[in-house]
Amino acid sequence: MTPLLEASGLSLRFGAIRALDDVAIDVWPGEVLAIVGESGSGKSTLLRVLSGQQAAEAGTVRYDGADIRSLSEAALRRLSRSDWGFVHQNPRDGLRMAISAGGNIGERLMANGARHYGDIRAEALAWLSRVEIDPARIDALPRTFSGGMQQRLQIARTLVTRPRLVFMDEPTGGLDVSVQAKLLDMLRGLVRDLGLSVVIVTHDIAAARLLAHRIVVMRHGRVVEEGLTDRVLDDPQHPYTQLLVSSVLAA
Ligand SMILES: Nc1ncnc2c1ncn2[C@@H]1O[C@H](COP(=O)(O)OP(=O)(O)OP(=O)(O)O)[C@@H](O)[C@H]1O
Ligand SMILES: [Mg+2]
Repeated sequence: MTPLLEASGLSLRFGAIRALDDVAIDVWPGEVLAIVGESGSGKSTLLRVLSGQQAAEAGTVRYDGADIRSLSEAALRRLSRSDWGFVHQNPRDGLRMAISAGGNIGERLMANGARHYGDIRAEALAWLSRVEIDPARIDALPRTFSGGMQQRLQIARTLVTRPRLVFMDEPTGGLDVSVQAKLLDMLRGLVRDLGLSVVIVTHDIAAARLLAHRIVVMRHGRVVEEGLTDRVLDDPQHPYTQLLVSSVLAA
């Protein structure tokens, strides 16, 4: 087996700030990899670079064996709407607020070639149920939804095309704790049922524990520790990871 996503030597500066400093990570088929670390440690920057939205100054990202920088713009766009998905912290960044819930789901299907209106609508209805949104609201605009519903709609829109690899940046970040728990549970089920590979950025150690097979800990643009989830959380080696884990226990 080879990694689905393979990055090495990634570096990127913003002025004096080293947002990424020689970062290497692998993501294996069917694996959920959590990226944790304090605010400003480079997590979102890493996701943008891994998903081809931003170029690094140095290093390579390989997807399915191919250097993503060697792909044409068109090929990268095609990958972004078929093989890959991206779930943003703020659902407004991942949804089209001016079109209906069903339209948000259907649009991704149409971008991948679906044409039959009845099939698209049926698929949208099925996905609304799957993410526990009342299918009767298929024609409603996302802005009439709660934050948790918007996030579930964004997840449906992302997963409807069956991507292989999904990037998630703090998908539960803006939500109440009780809503977060429900969403995490749903995500865990979907990831398992669809056999997704996921790179998830989170502040939430409990979320990482629940979802991830492996954890990467970042600080100041560097990976300071990585390993299997239980090992990293139960027996952290790096002082910064120890602090991160103990501050959660104390909270
Ligand atoms: N476009 C940009 N221009 C200038 N600096 C940037 C830019 N994007 C990121 N940075 C800087 O790079 C560093 C890493 O930012 P990044 O957003 O990746 O952190 P993060 O780990 O996602 O933080 P948070 O947990 O707060 O979301 C920060 O110091 C940030 O200010
Ligand atoms: Mg971020």
